[in-house]
Amino acid sequence: MIKILQIIGARPQIIKAAALSRAIRNKFSDQIQDIIVHTGQHYDENMSNVFMREMQIPQETYNLKIGSASHGKQTAQMLQRLEEVFELEKPDYVIVYGDTNSTLSAALAAIKMFIPIIHIEAGLRSFNKTMPEEINRIVCDHCSTILFSPTEAGIKNLQNEGFQINQTPPYSIHNPGVFYCGDIMYDNSLYFSSNFEQDSGIECSFIVPQSDFVLVTIHRPSNTDSIENLSAICNSLISLTEQSLVTLVFPIHPRTKKILEQFHLLELLKANNKIMIIPPASFFEMIVLEKKCKCVITDSGGVQKEAFFFKKPCVIVRDETEWVEIVDAGCAVLTKPYSIAEKTIQMIQSPPLRYPLIFGDGNSAEFICEKIIQKADIPI
Ligand code: UD1
Repeated sequence: MIKILQIIGARPQIIKAAALSRAIRNKFSDQIQDIIVHTGQHYDENMSNVFMREMQIPQETYNLKIGSASHGKQTAQMLQRLEEVFELEKPDYVIVYGDTNSTLSAALAAIKMFIPIIHIEAGLRSFNKTMPEEINRIVCDHCSTILFSPTEAGIKNLQNEGFQINQTPPYSIHNPGVFYCGDIMYDNSLYFSSNFEQDSGIECSFIVPQSDFVLVTIHRPSNTDSIENLSAICNSLISLTEQSLVTLVFPIHPRTKKILEQFHLLELLKANNKIMIIPPASFFEMIVLEKKCKCVITDSGGVQKEAFFFKKPCVIVRDETEWVEIVDAGCAVLTKPYSIAEKTIQMIQSPPLRYPLIFGDGNSAEFICEKIIQKADIPI
C-alpha cells in the first residue's frame, strides 16, 4: 500500500483533490492510502466546507486551522505544523496542488524531510515574479520528484528551466519525472456537469437571471489591493451595464468584499440594479453560472479555465496569464481594469469560433494514480 498525503488549503485545491480522491476510491483503493491534510488557509463555510461536502471529499484527517495572516507568518505556521504531521504519518509521497502558500509550505516541509513530492499543476508560469503564486510555483517545481503538467506550454516551461523530459525511472529530486497529464479540474467539470444534465435540479442559494448575464469574479491582490485598479474595475463594470443589456452576477471573495466596503465601493455596486452581488458561490453553483452565462470576467486562474471548459468567452483582468493557450486560441482576452466594458462587449459580439482540446480528456486523475503506482519505488 502506498501512503499519500494530499495537502489542500485554498478553494481550488479542494476541487483538485476531489478528482484524485474519487479516482483512488473508484479504482485504486487497494493500492493507495489517501490521507487529506487541510492547512485551513481558507476557512469560511463558503470558501471551504461547502466544497468538501459537495465534492464528496473524504473528511480530512488533519485540519491545521492556520487561517489568514501575512504571507510570511501564514507560510511559516503551515511549514511548522506540516512537518509535525509528516513526522507522524511518514508518507511515501506528499501531493501538492497549484501555487498557493499551502503548496509552498508543504513542498518546503517535505523536501527538508526527504519525502518525495508530487506536484500537480506543474510548469505553469505567468512570468511575473511579483505575483506570490509565481514564486510558489517555481520553488515547488524545483523541489519535486514527479511533476504533472496540465498543458504542453507547462512542459515547455519546465524544459526551459532545465528539466529533462522522458527521463527513465527511478525518479528522484535529481532525476525528476515530468509528465503532461491534462487538467485535473477538467476531470471534475466534466464529471459534475454531466451529473447535472441527468438531474438539473441544482439548488442555488440565489436566483439565476433568466436574461443574458455576465459572471464576474475578482480576488487577486493586484486588483483588490490597489484602490486605482479596484475603482477602475467598479467603474468599468457599471459602464458595462449602461452600454449593454447584460446583468452581472458577482460572487464576492471575502478579501474583495472587505476592501470594497472600506472604500465605499460596495454600496456603489449594490445601488446598480443590474449588478447582483452574492456570497462566494459553491462549486456546483459556479458550474450553473458558468454554463448559463454569456461571458466571464475574472482574475482567477481556475475560473478562466472553467469558462473555457464550458465554451464561454473570458475577459481576464490581468496583464498576463499562466493559461496562455486560451488567450492564444482567441477564447480569452487580457484586459486592464478600465477596459473591461469595451473588451466584454467585443467578446460578446464576436465570440470565439472554436475551443481546441488543450486540457486533456478528463482522465488526468487516473493517469496520475497509474504513475504513482508504477513508480512506487521512487527515492527522493
Ligand atoms: C489564495 C491563493 C490564490 C488562489 C486563491 C483561491 C496564495 C498566495 N493565494 O488567495 O493563489 O487563487 O487562494 O481562492 O495562497 N479570507 C477570508 N476567509 C477565508 C479565506 C480568506 O475572509 O476563508 C480573507 C482574509 O482576509 C485573508 C484574505 O481573504 O487575509 C486572503 O486570503 P488568502 O488565503 O491569504 O489568499 P487568497 O486571496 O484567498
